[in-house]
Amino acid sequence: MEAVVFDGSKLSLSYQKNYPIPTIINDDDVIVKVHYSGICGTDLHIIQGEFPAIKSHPIALGHESSGVIHAVGKNSIFKVGQKVVIDPNKSCNLCDFCRNGDYQYCRTAGINSTIGIWQDGGWAQYVRAPQIQVFALPDGITTEQAGLCEPYSCVSHGFNRAAPLKVGQKILILGAGIIGNLWITTLHHHGHREVTVSEMNPTRLDIVKRMETGFRLVTPDVLAKEAKENVTYDVIIDCTGVGKVMELSFHYLKEGGKYVLFGCCPPTHTATINPFDIYNKELTVIGVKINPFSFPSAISWLKAMGSRYLDYHKLGVKTYRLSEYESALEDLKKGSVAKAMFKISED
Ligand SMILES: NC(=O)c1ccc[n+]([C@@H]2O[C@H](COP(=O)([O-])OP(=O)(O)OC[C@H]3O[C@@H](n4cnc5c(N)ncnc54)[C@H](O)[C@@H]3O)[C@@H](O)[C@H]2O)c1
Ligand SMILES: [Zn+2]
Ligand SMILES: [Zn+2]
Repeated sequence: MEAVVFDGSKLSLSYQKNYPIPTIINDDDVIVKVHYSGICGTDLHIIQGEFPAIKSHPIALGHESSGVIHAVGKNSIFKVGQKVVIDPNKSCNLCDFCRNGDYQYCRTAGINSTIGIWQDGGWAQYVRAPQIQVFALPDGITTEQAGLCEPYSCVSHGFNRAAPLKVGQKILILGAGIIGNLWITTLHHHGHREVTVSEMNPTRLDIVKRMETGFRLVTPDVLAKEAKENVTYDVIIDCTGVGKVMELSFHYLKEGGKYVLFGCCPPTHTATINPFDIYNKELTVIGVKINPFSFPSAISWLKAMGSRYLDYHKLGVKTYRLSEYESALEDLKKGSVAKAMFKISED
């Protein structure tokens, strides 16, 4: 089958036409015929060796995949042909973290066993997954829309961590890559209107306009100028993944404010913040890591959002064939698209 394969020992990617098709190993495995599989910022980090991933042997990357059931093991609850989406992460069910429902901290499962990072993923025509990580799509959600389910599941976890977010609060989103854009749709869908979005790439700001939310769009220099006039925010959601951004924007928080650090900075980044400010303004810093048990709510969001929000053109999502992986990565790196998505099959 076709696949885009990552060799962690060389940090290299290649398009292969004869990569082995996965087969059922355990009775609760299923094989999914992949329709859509996203390229995420984390994949860029993996390819550059900035995020831990498998080194012992090459794998197909891709942790954001939707498709249809192609084959099932003996214990399957799924039927061939059913539309599904794959949660790349799971709980080990044994450690204290997992038993408390926090598998994002698990030392062996969670982000340490991810499909598409530690085992073959969805940048391929077929992918194997244990059925516990597979979710049926309700009627009305297309596999195209469900290509965004995994990033929405992370946003959903972040949304719960940030709660309560009261309608009427002034919210600032920093960075309008796909993650910023999914936060924009989420906040608008939940009734928020007092939202400012800051992004320095003009192409990406133009993409945000397509969503017609009426949110205020600015470049970072505007925020810096306004901060001198004491313009502040109740909630700041960082979607840049750049450490210094926290340092620059932390004092934009109002008294009682919350800083949601959704961006995943390389571990080498640092930011200086003022502890007196945290005391004096009673500020809260909220980290957000992946998607523990948040696929069901992400699927419900997809269903409720529908075509008003889940439109690839409006969100800046462009599709590519697997063989076009080089231009997909290039477009993503230069920010001419908000997201690159492999469209592998449609039936
Ligand atoms: N917490 C999680 O579970 C989780 C899940 C998925 C992704 N992420 C992280 O979220 C971040 C965003 O993902 P993405 O795919 O949208 O990445 P991206 O790199 O495509 O987008 C980041 C955007 O931030 C902009 N930016 C950089 N500095 C800025 C500044 N000072 N002010 C305003 N904008 C600025 C960039 O121009 C870019 O458009 C990444 O760090 C990613 O790893 C976290
Ligand atoms: Zn991702
Ligand atoms: Zn565990």
